[in-house]
Amino acid sequence: MGLTRDFFISLSQNKVLNGAAKNWGLKLGAQTVVAGTTVEEMVNSVKKLNSKGIAATIDNLGEFVFEKQEALEAKRQILAVIEAIHENALNAHISLKPTQLGLDIEYDFCLHNLKEIVSKANEYSIFINFDTEDHSHLQPTFDLLDELSKDYNNVGTVIQAYFYKADENLKKYINHRTRIVKGAYKEPANLAYQDKEEIDKNYLKLIEYHLLNGKFTSIATHDHHVINHVKKFVDEHNISKDKFEFQMLYGFRNELQLKLANEGYNFCTYVPFGGDWYGYFMRRLAERPQNLNLVVKQVFNK
Ligand code: FDA
Repeated sequence: MGLTRDFFISLSQNKVLNGAAKNWGLKLGAQTVVAGTTVEEMVNSVKKLNSKGIAATIDNLGEFVFEKQEALEAKRQILAVIEAIHENALNAHISLKPTQLGLDIEYDFCLHNLKEIVSKANEYSIFINFDTEDHSHLQPTFDLLDELSKDYNNVGTVIQAYFYKADENLKKYINHRTRIVKGAYKEPANLAYQDKEEIDKNYLKLIEYHLLNGKFTSIATHDHHVINHVKKFVDEHNISKDKFEFQMLYGFRNELQLKLANEGYNFCTYVPFGGDWYGYFMRRLAERPQNLNLVVKQVFNK
């Protein structure tokens, strides 16, 4: 299991394969978890979700951005997605990774790009979520959020429960709309819990705290134990359904997504799209090798 995870993580980081895959179109079963390569395809996917009462957070996929030109192109694409949300009156907002907008190139350049995006989205009242990446990008991501929060209130970020400091950061951003996750990256033991039970325990603790004290809580998980716990907790504490939402990734547990929406819970699907799908897809395989079934089916169902 650990070996498989490391194998797929290393594939996700392979720059040659990442580059090559941009020319492949969606392959290897990726089309079940990636909502198209173009804005038009993504809009159609989001319309289908919206028609079922499910909102979307749209991620324009991008990896390994070390050139200014690539970051500017990512910004251009995200601005086009914002226009598409507005024009099509989609029930949707944006998720982005600061590294895609140039965080690894130069902090001020990234800030400038993000400001343009957040300002445009603000005109249309569209929320922008800064996804959190590995620990080396965490503080700069919070710094970007702090800077932009001075002028805009349509921004928020993600708290990863595996970090010992998650509790402190959750409290710092208590007045922001916040997504809470377990955490997806391999982090060192001096910074993050390694044990699944400890991560799960901290995850529930953070969710409960935010539901009771926070602005709006996005509970992003495929774990039905967590979801059932939250359902019970909100009932017991009379927390209204408009204070929180569940989130899952596009193509995962589709029946459960629909069931929760039909039960009257706010539900938001994370919708990744774009030509740069390869690293994202490999990380999903690393997380849950059962997803390999997707690949096997695609390879044999030609
Ligand atoms: P986990 O993987 O711990 O699984 C727990 C249990 O749930 C499993 O044992 C199984 O029983 C069940 N289960 C899980 N997946 C299933 C499936 N596909 N089918 C059936 N049963 C399943 N991370 C990060 O570091 N930064 C970020 O910004 C984000 N953003 C984000 C947004 C959204 C919408 C989601 C859903 C996730 C993220 N993540 C993230 C990823 C997150 O940190 C975490 O790595 C994954 O969600 C995996 O953990 P889970 O909580 O889903 O369950």
